[in-house]
Amino acid sequence: MKTNWWKKAVIYQIYPRSFQDSNGDGIGDLAGIISRLDYLKKLGIDAIWLSPVYQSPNDDNGYDISDYQKIGSEYGTMETMDLLISEANKRNIKIIMDLVVNHTSDEHPWFQSALKGPESPYYDFYVWRNQPNQIVSNFGGSAWEYVPQLDQYYLHLHSIKQPDLNWENKNMRQAIWDMMNFWLNKGIGGFRLDVIDLIGKEPDQEITKNGPRLHELLQEMNQKTFGHYDVVTVGETWGATPEIAQLYSGEERQELSMVFQFEQIGLDKQAGKRKWDLKKLDPQELHQVLSKWQIELAGKGWNSLFWNNHDLPRIISRWGDDQNFRILSGKMLAIYLHFMQGTPYIYQGEEIGMINHPVTDISEVDDIESRRMYQERLAAGYTNAELLDSINAKGRDNARHPMQWDSSSNAGFTTGTPWLPVGDATEINVADSLADPESLFYTYQKLIQLRKSEETIISGSYQVVETGNLQVLAYLRELNNDKILVVVNFSAEKQSYKLNFKPEVREWLITNYQEQISEDLKPYEAFAVRIK
Ligand code: NOJ
Repeated sequence: MKTNWWKKAVIYQIYPRSFQDSNGDGIGDLAGIISRLDYLKKLGIDAIWLSPVYQSPNDDNGYDISDYQKIGSEYGTMETMDLLISEANKRNIKIIMDLVVNHTSDEHPWFQSALKGPESPYYDFYVWRNQPNQIVSNFGGSAWEYVPQLDQYYLHLHSIKQPDLNWENKNMRQAIWDMMNFWLNKGIGGFRLDVIDLIGKEPDQEITKNGPRLHELLQEMNQKTFGHYDVVTVGETWGATPEIAQLYSGEERQELSMVFQFEQIGLDKQAGKRKWDLKKLDPQELHQVLSKWQIELAGKGWNSLFWNNHDLPRIISRWGDDQNFRILSGKMLAIYLHFMQGTPYIYQGEEIGMINHPVTDISEVDDIESRRMYQERLAAGYTNAELLDSINAKGRDNARHPMQWDSSSNAGFTTGTPWLPVGDATEINVADSLADPESLFYTYQKLIQLRKSEETIISGSYQVVETGNLQVLAYLRELNNDKILVVVNFSAEKQSYKLNFKPEVREWLITNYQEQISEDLKPYEAFAVRIK
């Protein structure tokens, strides 16, 4: 039976490479995750979205899979994976696997066989053409790579080592359904579907996102696999609008549980340009976009709520203040987001206020996307300084530096040499956060608990509340006679504001200062109260 448990759930994302190393090789692993399950239980999360742990040559850190049914040796074995699932389940934590099926690694046996040409049964598992067209890769450059022995090109919307699968091929689809059922039978809690908006592509018409067959393919996937299980499915859907999100997540459509869309994430880039072309965030624009999603998807679909993931810079560095108000701005951001409708995602380290990790030279950068952009733009005339600014603001490594567990060497992440340097953990680490009742950790813990006790957060209506101040954002959630008012100061300055009603407090739910409503809000002040 379907219970829609994920509507009340909070999901924690683990980037396994950087979470906890157990064997001193400098790379996080499954045994490391098992050793930290009690910590996650204390935080109160319901499920873990596990970024890929499959066998992979790691051209794109695991998003290039060479065997979907094998665990990468750096992470452990299938036995450890089974143990992780059962240890997590014992604690009522579900494991959500990352499903990367827009592409495989070029080292996957299917692609290796495909390279032999049309007589291989796997040739048509991929997208081949005699001539390239104008499609560009998400990592820059042409999306077509020439294979001399075939005198043909294959499509790769990401790196050259990530050939796109041909979703028109029935046998390919069947192989994917079999693989998905293999994982579902292990008792996992669901799938996060990587760049799923790309699978219905029409390469000849240069349509990559939201192609004409996308939703039909998802309905088939649902019927053949997860539709038979009480699991969550979350689609990474970059180009989704609220209308498109209804197609993915409208219950009657039998596709996915929810979308993970990025409209708010694009608000600090210049219009029509790439994420590297920086622009300051306007809090009003953020409020408009998030409110639009709240209102337009209500009752028609389901959204994810997130600030961070492994592809995004740390939110406190991005839209808070990591120098002067790290904890206060972190709490404000958390409070502002967590009273909205949807399923919240917390990315590892967000709950202790981890921040960006600036570099001074391109040689310090690991991420393939940042490195490719750097080379491309350097050749196009950008300066080294400009490019490093962009990478420091938006580069994916910012999220990938190891988890900071304590203030010992390498922050308790590894006893060896970490694959990516560890940040400064003297002040930012789990041990200190747990010891301090005022830490950001306990704000997140409280927000997770509130989602369990307050039905209004899950299913109440949403209304924007005017404040007369562009830096002060407010909204009201309402269900029957229950009303929750959320007010936040999205700035580092004191702000005055005026609501067009006088809130009479019934109960304080959470705040990052004192439990008191005054005319002025202190820097990054945020609160949620139940009102009469
Ligand atoms: C989205 C993933 O989140 C990202 O890390 C990856 O590089 C691309 N998809 C390609 O799989």
